[in-house]
Amino acid sequence: METVREELIIPGLDHLGVLEGAAAFDQTVSIIRPNLPPWENVKDRFQKIYASGMITNHRTVAELEAVMADFLEVREVVALSSCTSGLILALKALGISGEVIVPSFTFSATGHAVFWAGAKPVFVDCDHRDWNISIESIRQAVSPDTAAILAVHIFGNPAPVLALEELARELCVPLLFDAAHGLGGAVGGKRIGGFGRAEIFSLSPTKLLTGGEGGLLATNDETLAGEIRFLRNYGNQGDYDCRELGLNARMTEFNAALVLEGLGLVEGEIRERARLAAVYRKELASLPGIIFQEVPAGNTHTWKDFTLVIEPASFGLDRNQVQALLGKENIQTKKYFYPPLHMQSAYKKLPHRMVRLNVTEWLTHNVLTLPLYSQLEENGIRRIAATLSALHHNAEKLK
Ligand SMILES: Cc1ncc(COP(=O)(O)O)c(C=O)c1O
Repeated sequence: METVREELIIPGLDHLGVLEGAAAFDQTVSIIRPNLPPWENVKDRFQKIYASGMITNHRTVAELEAVMADFLEVREVVALSSCTSGLILALKALGISGEVIVPSFTFSATGHAVFWAGAKPVFVDCDHRDWNISIESIRQAVSPDTAAILAVHIFGNPAPVLALEELARELCVPLLFDAAHGLGGAVGGKRIGGFGRAEIFSLSPTKLLTGGEGGLLATNDETLAGEIRFLRNYGNQGDYDCRELGLNARMTEFNAALVLEGLGLVEGEIRERARLAAVYRKELASLPGIIFQEVPAGNTHTWKDFTLVIEPASFGLDRNQVQALLGKENIQTKKYFYPPLHMQSAYKKLPHRMVRLNVTEWLTHNVLTLPLYSQLEENGIRRIAATLSALHHNAEKLK
């Protein structure tokens, strides 16, 4: 837990490290902090796994799948080594080989999975309010080769799932969700996990629920779940004569144990993050040039990330300047997502297509993700907000 200095920050240069005063924080405030379950509980489970001698894809994984199917209110959950492997296998299992429509404003793994599955991504724009995939942009991108839509719940803000389901039905293509950020989120009271043909979650360390590494594929399609269970085990159906090219995408028992013990913390973590996100928004509301991600009424954002836009003309400093200055105050931030998929070097060599990406371009050059997790507490959030305010008020001198 970071030590937060007691005295109040006044929006003035003398309290900022950038002018040789004391930095806003004595120690680095990291961008993430996993909320891990008590070691005692995890230890008991680890000991049992050790004693059984079965250390991968066994009883604990099966227990996790059942518990998560219950939690996500879906028929099937398949545990995997990562969200990336789950995305690849879902595309493979559905036999998708044409064009897959994906937002460009997302983490690299969304796009990588499309290429690894042997399909071609078509990058589309996002909505300027909720920053999720744009329905209009998908319509612009549709072609006779359109084979699937892969949407993302950006930062944990649920994508427009109902409109996407309607569009996928109209186009007769499968709809998948990269739900890496979405665990615990909901749309009109229905949990993320049950929309589209499948939703794939990540359990990597930056997520609200983590197994160290891991992924979960949630679906109401039992045939698809069965197929993924073979594919995660090299494609072996038991006789070693693989009919499909699978992967080793199994989850170990230890990862599953950590997730099972961590699940009970998720809803409290989301509630606390929502409360802290509201503190950020209140404290930053009067600063010009700060724009927040909109959450449609009735939806539950998981607040996996708290990302805002900094418009340089009105804030006085650009995103890169703000990031560098916050770094000097010992506040770690991230440019989630810069560069977006269509600007990544690896993709320039690979076949892809894109439509107009105006909102993506605006977001990618102006977004900054601030620290948000329950251990930071309200005084930490207020101090970060006050530091941002100080940067704005002293922008001319800091340029
Ligand atoms: C949107 C998105 N998709 C996929 C992934 C990949 O998840 P994993 O590391 O479990 O493969 C991430 C990881 O952070 C992500 O942010």
